[in-house]
Amino acid sequence: MTKLLFIQASPRRSESASIQIAQTYLEALRQEVPHVEVDTLDLWRADIPQFDGDKVAAKLNVMLGKSHNATQRSAWDQILEVAQRFISADRYLLAVPMWNGGVPYRLKQYIDVIHQPRVLFGLDPETGYFGLLKNKHATLVLTAGGYAPNRPSPAFGVDHHSTYLRSWLNQAGVTAIDEVRFQPTLLTADPAGDLKRAKDHAKRLARAHARMKMEMSGAA
Ligand SMILES: Cc1cc2nc3c(=O)[nH]c(=O)nc-3n(C[C@H](O)[C@H](O)[C@H](O)COP(=O)(O)O)c2cc1C
Repeated sequence: MTKLLFIQASPRRSESASIQIAQTYLEALRQEVPHVEVDTLDLWRADIPQFDGDKVAAKLNVMLGKSHNATQRSAWDQILEVAQRFISADRYLLAVPMWNGGVPYRLKQYIDVIHQPRVLFGLDPETGYFGLLKNKHATLVLTAGGYAPNRPSPAFGVDHHSTYLRSWLNQAGVTAIDEVRFQPTLLTADPAGDLKRAKDHAKRLARAHARMKMEMSGAA
């Protein structure tokens, strides 16, 4: 069965435009693929551990091929537990508002916890980073109040939001990525119309994804 991890990076719950659009995507997907298993991760209510000194030491020892002491082993086990939930999904749906040009800090904290050597990526001294995830797909729902791709940058902001998410996912091995944007949400004369257009785009994307049976199964 296809497992989809729905990551909510906005704290605004039902008020959140990105979550509303992502939910529209999910409803359309479920109509076509009723057996999809959805795991919802609300990053503002989930217990995401601090990435503290013990975890940094554990990470560096993995990178250097050194063993862990008892404290580091426990820190690494905590990391693996959080990462396993991410790894076990076939598909990702991320609802992410732009915050100060980038992603909300709870999402950055989550990425700092799970993006680990020998867990999501490897590093070859000759050729560089390579992803360890295979046959995954990500759908990004991206909102921003003032920024939009067709507005002058940096006057309306710089996109460290979609670019960061894509480079992180790529480094982990997730290269099949689609996106739905509702940008700008605030500097628009027609917020309701723009929201509806973004939801319509989300529905079309979900139906297209449902038609791609191979991708939905998470198979190669
Ligand atoms: C802390 C914070 C920082 C923000 N920074 C930006 C920004 O840099 N650029 C921008 O265009 N909008 C910015 N916004 C506006 C949000 O991206 C916008 O309101 C978005 O629609 C919120 O999505 P949501 O409804 O899913 O939470 C920011 C909002 C907050 C709360």
